[in-house]
Amino acid sequence: MQPATEQRPLPASGPPEPELPPRTAPAHVAIIMDGNGRWAKARGLPRLAGHRAGGEAVRRSIAAAIRHGVRFLTLYAFSAENWARPASEVLDLTGLLRHYLKSEIANLAEEGVRLSVIGEPGRFAPDIQTELAAAERLTAGNERLFLTIALSYGARNEILAAARAAAAAVLAGKLRLEDLDEPRFASFLATAGTPDPDLIIRTSGERRLSNFLLWQAAYAELVYLDVLWPDFGEADFAAALAEYTQRERRFGARPG
Ligand code: FPP
Repeated sequence: MQPATEQRPLPASGPPEPELPPRTAPAHVAIIMDGNGRWAKARGLPRLAGHRAGGEAVRRSIAAAIRHGVRFLTLYAFSAENWARPASEVLDLTGLLRHYLKSEIANLAEEGVRLSVIGEPGRFAPDIQTELAAAERLTAGNERLFLTIALSYGARNEILAAARAAAAAVLAGKLRLEDLDEPRFASFLATAGTPDPDLIIRTSGERRLSNFLLWQAAYAELVYLDVLWPDFGEADFAAALAEYTQRERRFGARPG
């Protein structure tokens, strides 16, 4: 995969709205949603309240992405490592996901959102797997926003699976070893067909990638926000985009 070069499309009619960032808006924004627990703790609430409020922030971030003409949005909703949390919290998170799918998919479909999942959806309860597959089918024809939700996702796992698949293709005589270059390898990743993220946002002040899109992040701009995820809103999305547009992206080349 190459870094995204797609420009923000013009709205259906009329000139672009003046307060939106210029045409250099990122095609693909990925978000590490962090800080639900701290948000709840600061309020003396159970962690579930933080995750619930985080669900609202998911809605706001999707609306903001659409509004800013971002074509691809990837949300890190549940890492492969999150299974190690206490069983009660895992149950809360999966319950929230179940609720979100049931209550939100029709809206997303109507908004022109196409939903895809990366990670290990097969590790979730059968009814959640069914809902996810149904949501992917229902929204398959949409093109306004390509929304990817990372569920039980880990980048090292993803890269390992891609290496295995590439090796299997070589062993089966379907791929010549000398033809295995970066674009071909990327075609074995779960994100095949999606441009690399231009901008990765992490909330809550933490500054690390936490096993998220490690291959795809090679040239992404990283923006760390001090806001806790449940407080994340339109203004934070706009601030991250504004910071992105100020950065000079050189992809390793010289300026200009
Ligand atoms: C990080 O906060 C967030 C998560 C582990 C899960 C993200 C989940 C949501 C935003 C809610 C629901 C999502 C969907 C798609 C319905 P944390 O618990 O690690 O916070 P902490 O670091 O402050 O403890």
